[in-house]
Amino acid sequence: MIIAIDGPAASGKGTLAKLIARHWGLPCLDTGLLYRAVARDVHARGFRLPDTWSAVALARSLDPSSLDDPGLRSPGTGEWASIVASISEVRAALLDYQRAFAAQPGGAVLDGRDIGTVVCPAADVKIFVTASPEVRARRRFLERQAQSEAVTYERGLADIQRRDARDAVRESAPMRSAADATLLDTSDLDIEAAFDAAVGLIKRKIGQ
Ligand code: DC
Repeated sequence: MIIAIDGPAASGKGTLAKLIARHWGLPCLDTGLLYRAVARDVHARGFRLPDTWSAVALARSLDPSSLDDPGLRSPGTGEWASIVASISEVRAALLDYQRAFAAQPGGAVLDGRDIGTVVCPAADVKIFVTASPEVRARRRFLERQAQSEAVTYERGLADIQRRDARDAVRESAPMRSAADATLLDTSDLDIEAAFDAAVGLIKRKIGQ
């Protein structure tokens, strides 16, 4: 069973993907980490974005075993990843790895922006997870405040809106819900309620 979970930053899609994968005993790939890793590698080699040539070369030689680097989760890397992700050759270079991950025996859960539309258009279940920008900015603000980072809600909201806009309007595989995806709005749901809703819709979809 292949489960595609797409949605914008801080919608809850990553947490949901992990919980769903654990529930069904499936491997899980956070595809945002691939773009984050390319952005990290571009900067680590002294190039500055948007440097298409270096981003494409580094996407083609990406070592997926480097995806557990905790530095990939930083807000700055997310912003760079969004820039890298707008380069169509970078997206093409990362496609085979994602499709091979999805094709494992038994299936997989993948989360990102274009899983239901481009990476796995034939996925058994597609969920587009969303929440209002204000709710998502508040979640990020609380997370970062808890880690004693110097952040403001307003700055976080502006970052989220800028990233949403870039991810949604780019020409190559823009973030959007697949026509056959189910929308899950988590604005008024905590993670347990969102998980219950997701499990319910997956079971309906696969006829359990
Ligand atoms: O999900 P995330 O915040 O880790 O993703 C970081 C950036 O990577 C995001 O702003 C857009 C890009 N991305 C993408 O274009 N396609 C994906 N499947 C996953 C992420």
